[in-house]
Amino acid sequence: MQKRKLGDGGLEVSALALGCMGYGKAREIPDRQEMVDLIQQAVERGIDFFDTAEVYGPFTNEEMVGQALAPLRDQVKIATKFGWDVNPDTGVHHGGVNSEPEHIRAAVEGSLRRLKTDRIDLLYQHRVDPDVPMEDVAGTVKELIRQGKVRFFGLSEAGAESIRRAHAVQPIAALQSEYSLWTREPENEVIPTLEELGIGLVPFSPLGKGFLTGKIDESTRFDSSDFRNRIHRFSPEARKANQALVDLVRVVGERHGATPAQVALAWLLARKPWIVPLFGTRKLDRLEENLGALSVALTADDLDEIESAGSTIRIECARYPEEMLRRSSL
Ligand SMILES: NC(=O)c1ccc[n+]([C@@H]2O[C@H](COP(=O)([O-])OP(=O)(O)OC[C@H]3O[C@@H](n4cnc5c(N)ncnc54)[C@H](OP(=O)(O)O)[C@@H]3O)[C@@H](O)[C@H]2O)c1
Repeated sequence: MQKRKLGDGGLEVSALALGCMGYGKAREIPDRQEMVDLIQQAVERGIDFFDTAEVYGPFTNEEMVGQALAPLRDQVKIATKFGWDVNPDTGVHHGGVNSEPEHIRAAVEGSLRRLKTDRIDLLYQHRVDPDVPMEDVAGTVKELIRQGKVRFFGLSEAGAESIRRAHAVQPIAALQSEYSLWTREPENEVIPTLEELGIGLVPFSPLGKGFLTGKIDESTRFDSSDFRNRIHRFSPEARKANQALVDLVRVVGERHGATPAQVALAWLLARKPWIVPLFGTRKLDRLEENLGALSVALTADDLDEIESAGSTIRIECARYPEEMLRRSSL
């Protein structure tokens, strides 16, 4: 498995990461043992970087990841996140954010317990808390690192200013933000900031929450618990309009014998050597398909074509509902 470095502090991970959110958060919890097996099969296939969060479930997702990875703990890196206002005892989520130092410390104790581990390899703040200065958040994580409970610090969906303020107190290994062929806003300000400061990027939803794989079209129906029912970009009309991007990816893939999912991941891998795409799947054959992206070498001509043809395709609708977008990029 190819490896990539995130940040300057020595965090090295497999070039693709597995997101565990789909095992009980974005959609209804599937068969638990099946998901535990899938996570372990991912390790067998060389993935060593796994992503969860306190708020996924809460707290079933971390428990599931802990159950799967405890026997393999020394072979893997586990990333989790704090920052939503989740009651650390009951798991009741009050809706908003909370990065008060005391709340961070309680969240970390809970995560360590559920993950059945003595250290979190990468601890992200899930969303910026406008009521807590970034310096206080970074200072709290710095202390947790000093205590050995956390190895590396990350932010999720933070804007350039927050990244700079946090990084000045405790160097950041990685930013986790949505970035893909149909969500390119980070290119404006965030990616140049990461490059300047030597911070890695872990793009979530690299497959456009499934859309860029070409297996979803305007007639696809999601089950009632599926989060995508609430996203305008997944309305049948938007899916129909945005199909042009999938068509482009498919044409490029055909030259390499690659699927659209593989091209979407290979495109991210080709952007920067410090990008580690974070995909999610609940199926082993898709996991294997996605790992195939590591063997797809897009040429300069392919990348130019994606750039020029892609720039003529207008992506319809926002990536998240309005109230969720407001929390991003603070
Ligand atoms: N920091 C944050 O705020 C944040 C937000 C969202 C996500 N995340 C993290 O990022 C991870 C990935 O996010 P995501 O699930 O939105 O990403 P994604 O990889 O873009 O999309 C996952 C979706 O694509 C489908 N899929 C995966 N591979 C496929 C393939 N080869 N062919 C067809 N369909 C395929 C999956 O379906 P099946 O499961 O049915 O295979 C699932 O519905 C999450 O698990 C989570 O850890 C973080």
